[in-house]
Amino acid sequence: MCGIVGCILQGSSEVAKVLRDALKSLEYRGYDSVGVAVCSEGRITVKKDAGKLEEVDRKLNLRGLKGSVGIGHTRWATHGRPSQENAHPHLDCTGTIAVAHNGIIENYSELRSELAARGHVFRSETDTEVVPHLVEEGLKRGLPLYEAFKQAVSRLEGSYALVMIAASSPSRIYFARKDSPLVLGLAKKACYVCSDIPAILSYTRDIVTLRNYDIGYIGVGELWIENLKLKAPVKRAPMRVTWSAEAAQKGGYPHFMLKEIHEQPTALRENSRISREQLEKMAKHVVDADNVLLIAAGTSYHACLAGAIQLLNYLRKPISAMISSEVQFMKPHIDSRTALIAVSQSGETMDTLKAMRYAREMGAKVLSIVNVFGSTIHRESDDTIVMFAGPEIGVAATKTFTAQVHTLSMLAVKAAELSGALDHGEAGKLNMQLREIWKAAGEVIRRSEIKAKSLAEYFARRHSCFYLGRGIGLPTALEGALKMKEIAYVHAEGYPAGESKHGPIALVEEGFPVVFIAPRDETRAKIAGNIEEMSARGAKPIIVCEDGDQLAEYTQPDCAFHIPPGYSPLFSPILYVLPLQLLAYYTAITRGYDPDKPRNLAKSVTVE
Ligand code: G6P
Repeated sequence: MCGIVGCILQGSSEVAKVLRDALKSLEYRGYDSVGVAVCSEGRITVKKDAGKLEEVDRKLNLRGLKGSVGIGHTRWATHGRPSQENAHPHLDCTGTIAVAHNGIIENYSELRSELAARGHVFRSETDTEVVPHLVEEGLKRGLPLYEAFKQAVSRLEGSYALVMIAASSPSRIYFARKDSPLVLGLAKKACYVCSDIPAILSYTRDIVTLRNYDIGYIGVGELWIENLKLKAPVKRAPMRVTWSAEAAQKGGYPHFMLKEIHEQPTALRENSRISREQLEKMAKHVVDADNVLLIAAGTSYHACLAGAIQLLNYLRKPISAMISSEVQFMKPHIDSRTALIAVSQSGETMDTLKAMRYAREMGAKVLSIVNVFGSTIHRESDDTIVMFAGPEIGVAATKTFTAQVHTLSMLAVKAAELSGALDHGEAGKLNMQLREIWKAAGEVIRRSEIKAKSLAEYFARRHSCFYLGRGIGLPTALEGALKMKEIAYVHAEGYPAGESKHGPIALVEEGFPVVFIAPRDETRAKIAGNIEEMSARGAKPIIVCEDGDQLAEYTQPDCAFHIPPGYSPLFSPILYVLPLQLLAYYTAITRGYDPDKPRNLAKSVTVE
């Protein structure tokens, strides 16, 4: 995810050094390009390129720029590939206004056409570049700089954290925020603007947190903030931050995994921004194909399984999910009428890449869903959807799993609509659920945390447990079990509930924990039978079911997780997995393990 920093130093021209060091500490957010703009002697100089900070610094000597005011940016591509032109900061036509931005400007294409018609020349494919040109336009109309900035910002739709410097105003940084974080740092002889507190903690601990629609400017000893919605000046009192830089990166959470579990509502909300055109394009490939094969590894495979079940629900054709590393050996039917969908958080998993290359040789249309723009899987696909989950740092995938299922759900609904399996009205209702599901995700996390923590005490003392589900409940069960073994090292088996009596049940003894995934669909009655079967042999049932479902009565109240109603069971993995992520997390903590550093595992596995 992009990172922004801005700084003004009094009595020093070494601002670029500060920007570089602050950008270094923003690296953990993930990025693919980097740049800085420094203002000195009435001129703005920009140095930027695709690549990692060290590389770009070596090539362009970012630190060598002299000046006392500047802004810097690490970019995580959304609009336009990672490249020198698309890296931030962006300039206006005159080269005297520089802007860096986090977020997505949703109405950028209208603004861009309007500005281009007025003669503005765009150098990048980004949404951000409209901002300096809008400001330039305001200046041309005779507005003072801050007014021009304010008017430009008021035309933007979407989300933004923005910083701007101008050659005509070298002692101020202009800023605005909506839905993307931005903080200010105050010091005696310096001031800072940043997307994240940790990046400026080594310079100051006096921080002002901006709120949505705040806009203003900062200089050394000078601060102006007003709120565009309140239409009035506002006072934001500085707070003194006492956490360490590492704790600050985790936003106050003890681990990235817990932070990312809690980020899921935001990630799902952001993910709804995947464009309709993009979904339609991929759905068309799916509808046109004779057969569809979804492939992935690890957690992403569980998302594929959910996606296959969703597509099968609507489309009458062979659709299956397969583990990437098995594709070459199981030799599924693949030819030029096959649509292959590779799903990968990192976009770099070698097993998945190999399976894609194999399928391409057999003539398949190769599609993908990734979370990292410009990754190898993205580059090697005929068509890709890039999700908006934001970078995931915890090795155990959490928010990318729910975003993958969310993306596949949107794809399934679109494919159903295109194929005529759903009419426009029915598809509209399901799409509305998918747009709103982030709210229910927040609710589930809030409700489940304390229960998961206390149940973790029980799981922490067990050697083994089962997670059972049927149909769309199965991918959730598999994912819940995977989380438990990955980070808590408790042997956990995810199994189709019906199949559990054909072997696994032999392990069940008094107090053996069995987690049941029970969305309110046609599997529910069968799951009830499985609960009885296991309980009769002494198992301790843990049940994830809808609010008010009497299935919860099969266990004690503290062993049932309740999910808000109102969402299609086909979307259930998004909500039903959340308590299971928390359960695994707290079991790892209770057992004294660091969930961010599970033994023997890597975030991205680039070997076969
Ligand atoms: C590794 C990670 C898993 C992940 C899998 C697939 O094994 O530890 O968490 O699910 O790779 O990764 P991908 O980036 O392709 O989704």
